[in-house]
Amino acid sequence: MGLFITFEGIEGCGKTTQINLLAEFLSESNFPFITTREPGGSSIGKRIRGILLDTENKEITSKAELLLYAADRTQHVETVISPALKEGKTILCDRFYDATTAYQGKGRGLDRKLIEDLNEIASGGLKPDLTFLIDCPVEIGIERAVKRSNSESPEEMRFEKEALTFHQKVRAGYMEIAEAEQHRIVIINGNRQVEKVHEEIVKIFLDKTNDNKESIKGKQA
Ligand code: TMP
Repeated sequence: MGLFITFEGIEGCGKTTQINLLAEFLSESNFPFITTREPGGSSIGKRIRGILLDTENKEITSKAELLLYAADRTQHVETVISPALKEGKTILCDRFYDATTAYQGKGRGLDRKLIEDLNEIASGGLKPDLTFLIDCPVEIGIERAVKRSNSESPEEMRFEKEALTFHQKVRAGYMEIAEAEQHRIVIINGNRQVEKVHEEIVKIFLDKTNDNKESIKGKQA
């Protein structure tokens, strides 16, 4: 089985840039991997992403939003992530269920038990082996995200348009998750030079990969 690695953080924290840099590093090392994302990592998921992020869709209720993320995740796990893991590939995934806990749980204030249950159902019990939480101040992240969305995907700005207090709640939510799951989640300071962040991520990634190899060897012995 490959490793399942997720990247999380508020809008504009730099996670997509870091996934691309790690992917380049892995390609150069001939390491078997795929990159994917939520929402939108499967072909059905791309259509769900369109609904979720469309600025016009102001009337989506918080619970409908939650269920759409869950539907996207189920399709993604069953058709993309699990098959690739079984082929021994490592997965670099831009967001997973921690985003639901932070955005729909903390940001929207939906019931914690409902979120936990749905995360379990939607992921089919699959848990990331390692999560990079790329942290940066909300004001900096949102400024970057708005600039990028204006030029790259102006129709997908439903979350960028939320108030700063919403994103502050999301950031605090992520910190709570990281505090509760220190064995899985590494907080990375994203408010630094891109290259410095990349170096730290590569080091942690290599340590985790070596641990994984040792544990597979141990099981085979
Ligand atoms: P992205 O801009 O990082 O691709 O993420 C899309 C948006 O979807 C982002 O604003 C965070 C939001 N999101 C949730 O609210 N809940 C979720 O479960 C996921 C995966 C993303």
